[in-house]
Amino acid sequence: MVGDLSDVRAMEQDFPSTRNESGYQRFRLGDFVFSRDEYFVHIEWRAQGKKLSHTMSADVFLRALMRDVAWNFFYGWVNFDDVFGTRNRYDRVELYAGRYHPVYKEQGLDHSACFDSSFVMQAFRSMLDDWTNVGYDPFAAPAETGLTWQGKKQGHNRAALNRARESCRRMPGLPGDVPLRTDRNRYPINRAFLDVPQDEPVIEAEPGFEHEVHAFNLFAYLSRSDVTWNPSVTSVCKHSLFCPTTEEYILPVKHANDRIEWFLQLSDQIEWRIEDRATGRPRASVVMRAGDVAAMPADIRHQGFSRRRSMLLVWENADPRLPQLYEDGILPPSLAGEFQEPGSVK
Ligand code: PHB
Ligand code: FE
Repeated sequence: MVGDLSDVRAMEQDFPSTRNESGYQRFRLGDFVFSRDEYFVHIEWRAQGKKLSHTMSADVFLRALMRDVAWNFFYGWVNFDDVFGTRNRYDRVELYAGRYHPVYKEQGLDHSACFDSSFVMQAFRSMLDDWTNVGYDPFAAPAETGLTWQGKKQGHNRAALNRARESCRRMPGLPGDVPLRTDRNRYPINRAFLDVPQDEPVIEAEPGFEHEVHAFNLFAYLSRSDVTWNPSVTSVCKHSLFCPTTEEYILPVKHANDRIEWFLQLSDQIEWRIEDRATGRPRASVVMRAGDVAAMPADIRHQGFSRRRSMLLVWENADPRLPQLYEDGILPPSLAGEFQEPGSVK
């Protein structure tokens, strides 16, 4: 189903006037209907002539929705939980319920539909805006935000929702690129990283090379991140993207990559729960301590648990050919090796 402008207009006309008794708007995308109340989000769809409904805690839903919006649907699948999620098909997005849950799937009670990405983005942004109350920040660690995700609708938190994603062109601190987080008022050192040295490296370039050498203190940069579970592009070399992030509590989504990605644990510890991508069956539990490196294969979903705020480097390969190569079986799910066009000579 294509989400065209008539769907958007239907949404605008139908729903602002249909605030429920908790004060929240309802949203419809195709056959999916989303509503929230004081504690819960409800997702409804139809399958086999039956009406189905799935309930999630509103804080869990908002944390997942915040990432899906901020990451522009990310790579592959963003599972909000075991039942509902989105699949990025790059100019289109698939919404699904029960599609990757063996019980719904086996009984034919799952539903999925594809829409234009811009339509889903507009709807999800409106949902996030309407359902996030003043004082609640879905990007913050639970200990660093209020409890106003609960209760009847009260106000907005647009400053938190509209934070610019700090995605560099080459590397933070280069002329014209994202600035280093040196403004201590805007970027105070997080309570967990007060012991992280803040000095910057001294660069001694040979004469004539001053503009070609750059370095910065990544630990200091990360120690001043005010968000959790939000990888930001911090170095770009062709398709190789370093996306470090600071983590506390639980990764709000179960991400299923459409390619391989690498994790380098920079500090503290994260436990990863690894499940089969299609069924959610447990496959592995990985405990990563500072200095550990792991590759996540292209046929799993994963969720991280970080007891203390920790630093993680997510290393992504943004080559747009990769999803198709894995889907067609040309690359096996655990092989990240350099791909060569058939027939090309090295
Ligand atoms: C991931 O799904 O790979 C991921 C997402 C967000 C993070 C870390 C890892 O903060
Ligand atoms: Fe991932």
